[in-house]
Amino acid sequence: MIEFYRQIFWVHVAAVIASGSLFGMRGLLVQAGSRWGMATPLRYLSYGIDTVLLTAALMLVTILPGAMFANGWLAIKLLLLAAYVLLGTFALKRGPTSKVRARCFVGALVVFATMVGIARAHHPLGWLHLLYG
Ligand code: HEM
Repeated sequence: MIEFYRQIFWVHVAAVIASGSLFGMRGLLVQAGSRWGMATPLRYLSYGIDTVLLTAALMLVTILPGAMFANGWLAIKLLLLAAYVLLGTFALKRGPTSKVRARCFVGALVVFATMVGIARAHHPLGWLHLLYG
């Protein structure tokens, strides 16, 4: 499968961009009080994109040598993924008040950006490592 590494890599990155953009858009719609944020077509689109994202991610993990994850960047990214999913559900649906939803939305975006930094740097310190490492 290594011969398809580049293609799978770009499928993952494209799904990351689509997933983040859709979440950002839905979060803004929820903040604006619009029902469209939780509309069925957008929810199913999000499930589809996230399935592609995770499938490509797991394929990359299978293809790449284990040594590439030795400094723990992938483990931290997976922990942050759990935080992102949790904050995301509170931002879009479970947050009891608009204030809680807004805070969870900002938190989810910060966690998402942190994950991108960690992935780009291949280092748990992410953006800090890219800037000062
Ligand atoms: C919302 C969740 C995720 C975000 C924002 C994200 C972000 C990214 C980005 C931006 C890259 C490209 C890094 C570069 O340019 O070198 C990347 C690569 C990668 N991601 Fe993710 N990712 C996510 C989920 C996952 C998950 C769940 C896994 C593992 C199960 C994973 C495993 C990988 C691997 C193995 C690479 C390839 C690194 C390389 O070949 O250089 N990602 N990710």
